[in-house]
Amino acid sequence: MKTYVVGNWKLNFTVGEASIYLHKLLKRLPVYRDVEVVVAPPFIALQSLSLQIDRHKLKLASQDGYYKDFGAYTGETSFSQLRGLVNYAIVGHSERRYVFHEDDKTIAKKVAAAVRNKITPILCVGETESERAFGEMKDLIRDQVIGGLREVADDNLDKVVIAYEPVWAISSVKGAKSASPEEVAEVIRLIRETLVDAYGRNAAEKVPVLFGGSVNSANVGGYLTIPGVNGVLVGGASLILQEFTDIIEIAKRVRV
Ligand code: 13P
Repeated sequence: MKTYVVGNWKLNFTVGEASIYLHKLLKRLPVYRDVEVVVAPPFIALQSLSLQIDRHKLKLASQDGYYKDFGAYTGETSFSQLRGLVNYAIVGHSERRYVFHEDDKTIAKKVAAAVRNKITPILCVGETESERAFGEMKDLIRDQVIGGLREVADDNLDKVVIAYEPVWAISSVKGAKSASPEEVAEVIRLIRETLVDAYGRNAAEKVPVLFGGSVNSANVGGYLTIPGVNGVLVGGASLILQEFTDIIEIAKRVRV
């Protein structure tokens, strides 16, 4: 399996800044066959960046998408509109869940709509600090994994990626802490077991599972050597060119 390095730019960069950043990144980046480099810019930059990128070096992701194809849904962008523009879509990010109140039902529809439009959803799951403190982490992760995949046909499981992002480890969250390798390993195992129970071992082992939350060039090597971690989802550090290229380099060397 490839190692994934996904940069989530969130609400950062103007279209011009995004283009300059990507130009510099492409110049530095060789073609790595065993590292899948993906960036998720803001929607407004996707069209122009899709003309600029070399897809042998890197792929684009959207940060979200709407499950209806067309219609009276002011402000939304559908996966059918994103088709051909992006290869991946981040779905169910904790900022969508907690800031914009998306639930598992909505997220399941988005995951299915992405698959239907030949876009690989990166389904994000993760508990808050208080959910962990109250002992709800295991049930919550299981519910988010099973709930998010509910509308995906069994034989399409190989078209999804899962990312574990504990909300308390996201750098922009107040008082964020880095997750320890043991904490990450436990949840990665839980995600894999949940997939095995629901879909069988063969299918479950084909699903890439990423880790995200304050990943940077200093800690990425450690996270990538955790058994079952197939890559990283990077927020803040993906906005800094040197950091992001270092992370990609390390992913190439560590190779899970
Ligand atoms: P940070 O890497 O800034 O903690 O963000 C993680 C994240 O939310 C990526 O989707």
